[in-house]
Amino acid sequence: MNIRRTNLFFLAIFLVWFSISLQGQKRDLDFRVDSLLRLMTLEEKVGQMTQYNGFWEVTGPVPVGGDARKKYDHLKNGLVGSMLNVTGVEEVRKMQEMVVKETRLGIPLIFGLDVIHGHRTVFPIPLAEAASWDLDAIEKSARIGATEASARGINWTFGPMVDISRDARWGRVMEGAGEDPYLGAKIAAARVKGFQGNDLSAPNTIAACAKHFAGYGFAEAGRDYNTVDVGTSTIYNAILPPFKAAAEAGVRTFMNSFNVLNGIPATGNAFLQREILKGKWGFTGFVVSDWGSAWEMMDHGFARDLKHAAELAANAGSDMDMESSGYVNHLKALVEEGKVTMGVVDDAVRRILRVKFELGLIDDPYRYCDENREKTLVGSAEHHAAALEVAKKSIVLLKNEGGLLPLSKSQKKIGLIGVLASEKNSPLGSWRFGSIDSSAVSVLEGMQKISKDIAYAQGPSLVTGIVDFEQELKINETDRTGMKEAIVLAKKSDVVVLVLGEHGFQSGEGRSRAKLDLPGLQQELLEAVYKVNKNIVLVLMNGRPLTIPWAASRVPAIVEAWHLGSESGNAIAQTLFGEHNPSGKLPMSFPKSVGQLPLYYNHYPTGRPWPKPEVFWSHYTDESNDPLYPFGLG
Ligand code: GLC
Repeated sequence: MNIRRTNLFFLAIFLVWFSISLQGQKRDLDFRVDSLLRLMTLEEKVGQMTQYNGFWEVTGPVPVGGDARKKYDHLKNGLVGSMLNVTGVEEVRKMQEMVVKETRLGIPLIFGLDVIHGHRTVFPIPLAEAASWDLDAIEKSARIGATEASARGINWTFGPMVDISRDARWGRVMEGAGEDPYLGAKIAAARVKGFQGNDLSAPNTIAACAKHFAGYGFAEAGRDYNTVDVGTSTIYNAILPPFKAAAEAGVRTFMNSFNVLNGIPATGNAFLQREILKGKWGFTGFVVSDWGSAWEMMDHGFARDLKHAAELAANAGSDMDMESSGYVNHLKALVEEGKVTMGVVDDAVRRILRVKFELGLIDDPYRYCDENREKTLVGSAEHHAAALEVAKKSIVLLKNEGGLLPLSKSQKKIGLIGVLASEKNSPLGSWRFGSIDSSAVSVLEGMQKISKDIAYAQGPSLVTGIVDFEQELKINETDRTGMKEAIVLAKKSDVVVLVLGEHGFQSGEGRSRAKLDLPGLQQELLEAVYKVNKNIVLVLMNGRPLTIPWAASRVPAIVEAWHLGSESGNAIAQTLFGEHNPSGKLPMSFPKSVGQLPLYYNHYPTGRPWPKPEVFWSHYTDESNDPLYPFGLG
């Protein structure tokens, strides 16, 4: 008994010491932050609250005039606290040196980037990773994304995106964890831990950012940036849980969202940022606006002008202004006019400086500028092996009737059809910053590694013209070149592997779709192939649930393979040939028709949930209702 009592005594002593030392560390950090804050002018404080996009070479001549010149001058005068989209040790170091050496206080920049599903080694899109339901694999994916991005000078990711959504028309469902708040919360915490690790000051960890706060995934009609008007129950039971989980996991930044929430734009929403986040949840990090979202409060009709938008955003708790130039142009005057107190500014700057201290940037501004790490870690074989494992775990077997799968390696006459089967870009998904174009392993390449008897026919193209991250894709609806060859191959094959779905840029930001059918001529191709050969393995390569009732009721084998990143083709081929047994489960429901949306498994039962002899029950008269969806969650 004495030994036990002695152990308890020493344990108590340790715990007291540990909490005192934690408190001590916190006091030291607060002391350092306040000491620096006291030295700063109002202009310099406003500078810390300003974030610019990098789009010019500081080693080369800055474009004369225009924003670039102004931004360059602001950088040199200490009026910028953060840059986004500046990558590579050389460019980061040059920009950091300029700020540290040429500004009065030399406060380092924090460099942010969208590290959403990997960086140079691209992992499956987040919705695909959610289908793995494997939190360790998801955490490891974020860890590797952080390792590669930090090796290229980045210290902050604008991730994880934790928006719950029940509407597959919204293109950004690819970026989240699906429709379930519980799974979404677990995945949010896993990604935060993966990005931030156990020591934020280590050179291979980066600050994470829970976004988009809040409600963005509930845009009316699934139309991106559209109004969000939801009740208290939805806010507290569906929207907030993943954000709260991220905060409890220690996420150091939040990003507010483009949408209004119940009439008030999130960037100017004190209920979200002050009452909930910084008040109830006690969040000590900082909030960054989304790109231009402060400016857009004018478009929302909520702010009279940019100065009014800056006033509303600052007072509502939006600490850093991404690319609106509202703070850098108006915040000093707003403080002098008493419309924004110095206390509001000091609180925002204190939060920003605290994260910079925690990252180790103040003590060593070049901590993330190690050329050797950049050379050895970025795109390593080890990272590709990890990406392959996560990709395999993300694949969902939706159907396999008649034992068509797994394919036999000795099987002859396998016909592979579909333009997406040879695509090396689409599998990278739409948030592929940091990757190299056409670097994904295609399905064709993956299958040819396993079997020499793969015959391939591309079929009609999916898109026409230029493919660009920021431009509308033009979907091919008319050019049937390749259709005949595909049908001929289907006819003479024992089994057809048909890869259909969406281009990588058909989902993601700004990519809402009013219809969720197989785009372009793909349904026509599917039916033409089916007419001559019913032994079809349909592989879906898509960024969101699609409406595939025709295929669901006829095609014997269907595999959901999402956009799986760099190792896409290997993961799909190893699964089709039985080297990997698919274990993924859907994180989002597949509707039969787009008219059913929003659709989610954990819906209220209604007072009339079951069929009745008359029409008075919850159903559609023009859609089969049993079940509500061909493929449901889990
Ligand atoms: C975009 C996105 C946001 C991203 C930011 C910076 O508009 O909404 O998710 O992190 O701008 O690229």
